[in-house]
Amino acid sequence: MNTLFDPFTLRGVTFQNRVWVSPMCQYSATDGFVGAWHSAHLGAFATGAPGLIMVEATGVVPEGRISIGCPTIEDDAHAKAFAPMVEFAHSQGVKMGIQLAHAGNKASTMKPWDDHLMASPAEGGWEAVSSTARAFEGYPVPRALTVAEIAGLVQSFADAAVRSVKAGFDVIEIHAAHGYLLHQFYSPLINGRTDEYGGSFENRIRFLLEVVRAVRKVIPEGTPLFVRISCSDWVDGGWNLIDSVELAKELKTLGVDLIDASSGGAIHNAKIDVKPGFQVPFATALRTEAEILTGAVGLITEPEQADHILVTVEADAIFLGRAMLRNPRWALYAAEKLGITIKWPTSLDRARTLKK
Ligand code: FNR
Repeated sequence: MNTLFDPFTLRGVTFQNRVWVSPMCQYSATDGFVGAWHSAHLGAFATGAPGLIMVEATGVVPEGRISIGCPTIEDDAHAKAFAPMVEFAHSQGVKMGIQLAHAGNKASTMKPWDDHLMASPAEGGWEAVSSTARAFEGYPVPRALTVAEIAGLVQSFADAAVRSVKAGFDVIEIHAAHGYLLHQFYSPLINGRTDEYGGSFENRIRFLLEVVRAVRKVIPEGTPLFVRISCSDWVDGGWNLIDSVELAKELKTLGVDLIDASSGGAIHNAKIDVKPGFQVPFATALRTEAEILTGAVGLITEPEQADHILVTVEADAIFLGRAMLRNPRWALYAAEKLGITIKWPTSLDRARTLKK
């Protein structure tokens, strides 16, 4: 049994607690470079004492970005832009992870607040790729990747992981959820390939396993590797929890340390009963049945709720998304609410109590 403020050691990394910031796109990079917005955004989390900040979906290649405003770690220059942010988090005792991603057929969009969805070539857009020439609702039909291109992308994930470690990141997370490229291979709803990357369960998970193997091989033994998966497509005939358990067992044997258990994103009209903690049962099932550590995510907003998930051993850590956007110092608030004394950043300490 653990509580929210128990430290957590994975390989060579000790997180000061189990309050973790979920990866969240900011659509605020320029040509894939993170800048002032990210310094402030990630810096705000770093001054709020979480155990881990997971940086948003970051393209392993430029075409792997979701939008024209998403970051990449396509080369050393892009990686270097993250370094001061990582260094600042470390100065606060906070670990930093990066979510390595490829958006596949959901790529090449404008920013969500723009007045149209797809970016034209003149606006910086590009041709999207996927497992199969099948469009996500409202998006153009992508081009199916060749086997040689798949091999190239496996290498791109590995190269991105090496650059991430060089930039100082403590944790690597592979984004294989939410209907993005790796999910576009393992979901039977999307993957219509007839080669060794399509058809059977083994073939559909092949690309993800190749990415995991390649990344694990090039990162230090002491660096934890996470994978975010969609545990269910929430539709009959789609990817489901039984598949996820089998996948998690495979991932564990390849050296994945923790599954970040999310869901959905393969199709636009899936019926999802979204309510507080609705994805926690996925984290619990993977923990129990695949015997792998898990992070729970999704409508976890209250300190007591988050703590309860750990106390009852339903998951090993808690990823908070929107609650963290609303209050980047959520961990300080949670500790106070739970009656636990934690160290505040020295510069903020006078606000710990409102007494004179
Ligand atoms: C997200 N989410 C998300 N997930 C992911 O794996 N990579 C990402 O880059 C993003 N980007 C993103 C941006 C924004 C603005 C939001 C609100 C969400 C999903 C997020 O990590 C989390 O899984 C969900 O928001 C559910 O958790 P909460 O918000 O209910 O705690």
